Amino acid sequence: MVAALSCFVNAYPEPGLVTGNVNPVADPTLCKDDAGTYWLFSTAPGIEIRTSTDRTAWTLIGVVWPDGASWTDVYTGTTNGNLWAPDCTYLDGQFYVSTGMAHPYPAIFFAKSTTGEPGSWTNEGLVTSTVTGDTYNAIDPNLIIVGDVWWLSLGSFWDGIMGEPTGKPTGTTVTHLAENSANGDEMEASVIWQNGSFFYLFTSWGLCCEGTSSTYMIRVGRSTEYNGDYVDANGVSLLDGGGTIVLEAHDDVIGPGGQDLMTDVDGTVIVYHYYTSAGTLLGINLVDFSTGWPVSILFD
Ligand SMILES: *[C@@H]1O[C@H](CO)[C@@H](O)[C@H](O)[C@H]1NC(C)=O
Repeated sequence: MVAALSCFVNAYPEPGLVTGNVNPVADPTLCKDDAGTYWLFSTAPGIEIRTSTDRTAWTLIGVVWPDGASWTDVYTGTTNGNLWAPDCTYLDGQFYVSTGMAHPYPAIFFAKSTTGEPGSWTNEGLVTSTVTGDTYNAIDPNLIIVGDVWWLSLGSFWDGIMGEPTGKPTGTTVTHLAENSANGDEMEASVIWQNGSFFYLFTSWGLCCEGTSSTYMIRVGRSTEYNGDYVDANGVSLLDGGGTIVLEAHDDVIGPGGQDLMTDVDGTVIVYHYYTSAGTLLGINLVDFSTGWPVSILFD
């Protein structure tokens, strides 16, 4: 009887145990280097860097740009302003980290390093930007590599999620991937993730950064092509407000979002931030794709 009833409980897993300096952590992205060390980058002036050998105990080791990132000042409208929602890819011994900023000018920059250490990074410059009058914001980059194609999903808060060719753009054309116009276009933090024959577009809906008033939740759609069309589990297009919930507020977890995914030895890992009365915390869970739709689960 108890077992039968539990089927009707909306059971999201607790975030996995993390220790060390993990409050606050906003908009985390995760890489693992060839030595097996985990590298977590997150929103901050200069972009914060945390490392871990076990994905549980984290040490804040510094920032990507210890001497500031003056080339971003015109975009952030301040000196050494917040660099938002970084995205990390580790490929052939090289870290690639991109980051966005929006006030007063939305822009995405990227940087490279072979060690990941604070101060070891080279500025690879502007990837893409948007200006007043554009319908979307160039923020929240996420790189997916499909064969020879490097593709960046980005945006946006306004007008949803876009995608375009990258390292450096080969053109100005963007593909509209998702939009949430019924809810004030509150959608950002995209991740495109391949599993089996599908590409999955994860997004954060709602508002971040409002403490326990944050309304972030993680939603997903899928497509057989990385550039769409994405539909949710009910067949609703992500351009028409579709999006199947992967993780939302539950128990004492408020506003989970700002997510990234990474392949690890025990499965596909999702990292995100969430809010409690204690602050802005780092969440890590596994994601099970075996039904064809991602389900967040707790690791051992
Ligand atoms: C796809 O998802 C399944 C089920 O979660 C997992 O076993 C498999 O390793 C995943 N494949 C890739 C390429 O990530």
